[in-house]
Amino acid sequence: MKLIRAVIRKDKLNDVMKALFQADVRGITVSSVQGHGGETSSVATYRGTTVMMELSEKVMLDIGVSEDFTDTVVEAILGAARTGQVGDGKIFVLPVEQVHRIRTGERDREAVTPVGVPAGA
Ligand SMILES: Nc1ncnc2c1ncn2[C@@H]1O[C@H](COP(=O)(O)OP(=O)(O)OP(=O)(O)O)[C@@H](O)[C@H]1O
Ligand SMILES: [Mg+2]
Repeated sequence: MKLIRAVIRKDKLNDVMKALFQADVRGITVSSVQGHGGETSSVATYRGTTVMMELSEKVMLDIGVSEDFTDTVVEAILGAARTGQVGDGKIFVLPVEQVHRIRTGERDREAVTPVGVPAGA
């Protein structure tokens, strides 16, 4: 399994959520974060030391998937989050050792595959 962690523009969240839903993604965690992506305009020199002056508001998505679903999800985010301007964000793909669905005790592949999920769950 993998954890796909994407940092995207706030105003791209709806487009990305739509693309992920169309790609059959159902489980996702969305966080508001602040970050710095190497923008030189927001770096300043203070007493001879270069420091980051500004953090931008971004949105972070965490999506746990089975191995064979990874590329689909990455492609969906790439397609929906891109403007072509600097600051579009990043996607990290991390290895995941275990996943457990608390309700059923299912683990790993079974635990990341949504099956028979009642509406609103
Ligand atoms: N190496 C990194 N590690 C952790 N978070 C990062 C990293 N690079 C970027 N981010 C996060 O992604 C956000 C957006 O980064 P950004 O899009 O500026 O990346 P970039 O690599 O500089 O690409 P670009 O050249 O398009 O600006 C940052 O504000 C930060 O939250
Ligand atoms: Mg940048």
